[in-house]
Amino acid sequence: MLTADARQRDFPTLEGRTYLNSAAEGVPPLAVGEALQQYFRDKQLGMDGRKPHAAQWDAAKALTAELFGLSPNEIGICSCSSEAYNLAALALRQKEGDEVVVNDLDFPAGATPWLQPSCPATPRVWRNRTGALRVEDLVPLLTPKTRLVTVSLVSFFNGFRIALPEVVAAVRKHSPALLAVDVTQALGRIPLDLRGADLIVSSTHKWILASHGGGLVGVPAARAAEWTVPAGGWFNLEDPFGANRFDRAISKPGAAGFTVGMPNYPAIYAIRAALDYIRGVGVAKIDAATRPLVLACLAELKKLPIDLLTPDEPEHVAGILAFRHPKAEAIHTKLLAANIHVMSHAGRLRIAIHGYNTAEDVEKLVKELKGALATV
Ligand SMILES: Cc1ncc(COP(=O)(O)O)c(C=O)c1O
Repeated sequence: MLTADARQRDFPTLEGRTYLNSAAEGVPPLAVGEALQQYFRDKQLGMDGRKPHAAQWDAAKALTAELFGLSPNEIGICSCSSEAYNLAALALRQKEGDEVVVNDLDFPAGATPWLQPSCPATPRVWRNRTGALRVEDLVPLLTPKTRLVTVSLVSFFNGFRIALPEVVAAVRKHSPALLAVDVTQALGRIPLDLRGADLIVSSTHKWILASHGGGLVGVPAARAAEWTVPAGGWFNLEDPFGANRFDRAISKPGAAGFTVGMPNYPAIYAIRAALDYIRGVGVAKIDAATRPLVLACLAELKKLPIDLLTPDEPEHVAGILAFRHPKAEAIHTKLLAANIHVMSHAGRLRIAIHGYNTAEDVEKLVKELKGALATV
């Protein structure tokens, strides 16, 4: 991933493309394609395929555990982050008077379960100030009634990276709330220290370079009782086929309760292969190689006539930079014409820099962006 040879070998579709959109869709290495082929071969064995499926499941959980700083039995895998959050909302068993803190830099999946009319808790919105979520703005929202604080470690919107230890300290000091952390825009890209998180959630089709259809869930054993999901299903239940199965359903506590039915094995094979790949390269090495590119890009963006949405604070930057421009769509079209791929959405352009990107990618982007800004 980090050398020209490895890039060419493992990511052949990146040849000749300036791909800066991993925050939307990561490009999987060929090893992930091979794993999906393996899934098909194993599936062709019918019921005998369940043994290799289970081996991939165990390996995917062990690899996820390593990245989350947990043990494999503290990991669950569902089908997407949104599913994980909805199951978490069920587990929370909220009542009138409860409060949940969401924030305005978050992806909808992390906030909207608590905005539904059927949710009895009252949402409180932690609002960003010039693109930054400041802990001093969180503190006044925390009360004895706060049940949950949900936040992304790195914002999908502008790449702002929260100071997790400070958030954990504030939540512990000022409320009895649980803290849910979405690491979708960080996992596989920056080293993580998730101590203090009571629930960890991640999608699998972005920076970890796996496929769609995965939702990684981490529940520290100490929080298993709080995150016991009262959902129907079978994979999540203690004794789904027991003699008393039509009398009551008892959920497995913690992470195991987040997989309600048959696991999405194609995604599991892809997750296993992708995390093996990322582990082989090393997240610390990915970050060390890539961070200078992000900071160089930020330095260039600061000089341009754009509305930079990412705060100019290196300690709060991971792999994403974003800006607004009234002609964002026209700029996007020009970049695409130069085979430069970034995200364009509602007047906002987002640049994502991963381990397979190079200094040339950033130089080309900056050059074409300058040209586009001069002509739109
Ligand atoms: C922080 C974050 N969480 C979750 C998601 C996606 O959620 P899901 O896996 O439910 O599609 C995204 C997608 O952009 C995201 O940026």
